[in-house]
Amino acid sequence: MITRRDFGIGLGASTLAALAMPAFAQNTPRRLAMPPLLDTTTSGRFALNAQAAKVNFLGQSDSDTWGFNQPYLGPTLRVAHKGEVQAEVTNTLREDISVHWHGLLIPGEVDGGPHNPVAPGATWNPVLPIDQPTATLWYHSHIHGRTAAHVSNGLAGVLQLSDGQDDTRGLPSTYGVDDLTLVLQDRRFDRSGRMNYNPGRQEQMMGFIGDTMVVNGQVNPVAAVPKGIVRLRLLNGSNARIYVLSMADGRPMHLIAGDNGLLDQPQVVTQLALASGERAEVLVDFSSGAGTTLVSRSNPNRGMMGGMMGGGGQSSGSFPVLPFEVNTTLAARIDVLPGKLGGTLANVDLAGARRRNITLDMGMGMGMMVRSVFGGSAFSINGESYDMSKLNFTIKRGSTEIWRVRGAMMMHPFHVHGVKFQVLSENGGPVSPRNRGWKDMVLVNGEAEIAMRFDHAASPSFPYMFHCHILEHEDGGMMGQFAVV
Ligand code: C2O
Ligand code: CU
Ligand code: CU
Repeated sequence: MITRRDFGIGLGASTLAALAMPAFAQNTPRRLAMPPLLDTTTSGRFALNAQAAKVNFLGQSDSDTWGFNQPYLGPTLRVAHKGEVQAEVTNTLREDISVHWHGLLIPGEVDGGPHNPVAPGATWNPVLPIDQPTATLWYHSHIHGRTAAHVSNGLAGVLQLSDGQDDTRGLPSTYGVDDLTLVLQDRRFDRSGRMNYNPGRQEQMMGFIGDTMVVNGQVNPVAAVPKGIVRLRLLNGSNARIYVLSMADGRPMHLIAGDNGLLDQPQVVTQLALASGERAEVLVDFSSGAGTTLVSRSNPNRGMMGGMMGGGGQSSGSFPVLPFEVNTTLAARIDVLPGKLGGTLANVDLAGARRRNITLDMGMGMGMMVRSVFGGSAFSINGESYDMSKLNFTIKRGSTEIWRVRGAMMMHPFHVHGVKFQVLSENGGPVSPRNRGWKDMVLVNGEAEIAMRFDHAASPSFPYMFHCHILEHEDGGMMGQFAVV
């Protein structure tokens, strides 16, 4: 039998059987816990403390982990959609970290990227001027060259922007009851049950793909849901894996929000792709009282290297992500799908837009080997590997641009800081339903065109990043930076 421990790597059936160790089989399912909710909507302030800890994920040996205010991952920050928030980030670890507010449209000075390092023992006190619609965002460390390891160790969490109006919208909003936050990650554990981030050379190229599903930092959890309509706020917090999600019994998911805010109305999807860094909110109807399981297809990002890293080794081609059991003691508040959501589809005014080409490159073969022998990097954008001291371009504040983003060799989840954008086309064709809302990421499978207005300022010393959100690619140099002045 395939367990959630056993998907993902291209091993033969006998190796898979060997991986399903008895100790793991005894790791009985337990109820999924939410990350603690840190509601800042009245106080307007919060504190995050980056710390080292130990977590026993599999009932075997402890793993060394990092987290914010807890052993692994961080609290769900609920933040008012308008107003200034006083953040405080303390670093008790032994290396620089940062906290980037992924999806927040705030000035470059407080964006939390590679130019906002928090040194060991130091505290960072940015004021975040927030003014954007309700959305499910996230935060994570973003130190150049170390982002993959930091996120893998646990320096990430969810940030909910809230305007307090979900009840009038008819949306589920009781945290952890009918409004679930789900951080999806694939991780790897060694034979003693220690979480192990040790990408080999091939995985540096293709992105790290784990063999064990971890949801909210738990292996093998089961979610309890009320008999009614349940909202799932999905974050793909994996380093590289792309999930293609569906419900095992075929019941529809009703997409209500993409990366950066609510849609105009729910859209029925039976399958939902979610690349690393992307978020989506869906409603799922449990009012029949029947449970089901959220499942994913194997990682489709095989690229030209073939199926080896793509998640083969599994006959069904899909694996369970999270089972749901209906628990009638939980109160269901909503049993009718809302009609209008009050959000909008992305609609950038393209008048006067300037065009720009962005090419995500992976050096391959001899060129890559020569470059890495001499300390260079295989990864680049428009031929240049990320250089912290170099501004790639400057954009005039208030202007609109259309970027044609092309990706080499495999799919690349492309992200831009400081903006929300509209996906205009995918491979010259129409935009897939899941990309019609406001986005801060787009999975580039060949080519995509995006349009955005640069309303927020980033000085040359605190520029915005644009990069691939496969963290091994980002760390390897598939990133650039721009100022908005
Ligand atoms: Cu989620 Cu530049 O990051
Ligand atoms: Cu970001
Ligand atoms: Cu990439």
